[in-house]
Amino acid sequence: MNTSVTINRPSTDTDFMPINGTDYLEFYVGNAKQTALFYKSAFGFQSLAYAGLETGLKDKESYVIAQDKIRLILTSPLKSGTEIGKHIDKHGDGVKVIALWVDDATYAYETAMQRGAKSYMEPFTTTDKDGEVVQSGIYTYGETVHMFTERKNYNGVFMPGFEEWKTPHYNPESVGLKYVDHMVGNVALGEMNRWVEFYEKVMGFKQILSFDDNDISTEYTALMSKVMSNGNGRIKFPINEPAAGLKKSQIEEYLDFYEGEGVQHVAVATDDIITTVKNLRSRGIEFLNIPSTYYDTLQARVGKIDEDIESLNELGILVDRDDEGYLLQIFTRSVMPRPTMFFEIIQRKGANSFGKGNFKALFEAIEREQELRGTL
Ligand code: FE2
Repeated sequence: MNTSVTINRPSTDTDFMPINGTDYLEFYVGNAKQTALFYKSAFGFQSLAYAGLETGLKDKESYVIAQDKIRLILTSPLKSGTEIGKHIDKHGDGVKVIALWVDDATYAYETAMQRGAKSYMEPFTTTDKDGEVVQSGIYTYGETVHMFTERKNYNGVFMPGFEEWKTPHYNPESVGLKYVDHMVGNVALGEMNRWVEFYEKVMGFKQILSFDDNDISTEYTALMSKVMSNGNGRIKFPINEPAAGLKKSQIEEYLDFYEGEGVQHVAVATDDIITTVKNLRSRGIEFLNIPSTYYDTLQARVGKIDEDIESLNELGILVDRDDEGYLLQIFTRSVMPRPTMFFEIIQRKGANSFGKGNFKALFEAIEREQELRGTL
């Protein structure tokens, strides 16, 4: 198997859109209160902030939860006929906002708009006793939004409009998730290059990797993917589109069920994937099943690794090597009612790629699940 992967390093030299990192992800969900409890108990997030009726909102409520650098906002409408409610009716639960942490949200917005972005929200400042936050927003694929968040003049728990969410009696331990490694978007057939160009032109991202249907195909299904990165490499957005195959690809299944383009998976990093996955499994998180034959040839494929292969086999963790090192990864089953979004847990040991050598095993695992759903 060819595991050679060349990464075109991003550069900060010509970066007109400096981004410090992922600020938060906002999910629109049917029941924010229960979803927050799910992420706390099963994924090890902690309570951070709340906004709702008690803070003066009339038509929605949001719970903010955090684990190390990862922050999720879970938002539900409190009445019928809202934009949030319509979004949920169409797409099911899913990621609405990928917020990017910037030093100047007004500059980021104006630059993006000059370069052809579609506006979601003009720069808007909110203040409270802890300072001010400036946010602005543009659309990306589907109905998904990038918010630019400027918080250099803010010292509070999250941002104005939110109060601290205190849950002294229930704060489950972290499972060791550290930060968002990458976020993948699924776009419609023929649309991948349009969104590659969007990230290049509007956001100043560079394409660092690409995979075609020769890299990512099984007997039945195929997809194509290009990985976009910002200048400092902290934001990585692979973009997938379906490719022709004998049967319906997982990307088409996603697009059908999400009823449009959107975030397919969020990869979160850990420094100890074995402990993290043991912990997640014991809390009820379900992962894609990998046949144990995968592990028969693992050593030959990736060479010497620090981890015990038997433990990896037991937990279903995948390994891939590139020119710079190796990585360990595992994929949850969809965490939504519809077969749409899922999480990846990833531990990088030098490797900066995305697990190309695992694509085949992974896709066959997804196809087995599609078969059970009758959507292959
Ligand atoms: Fe991934």
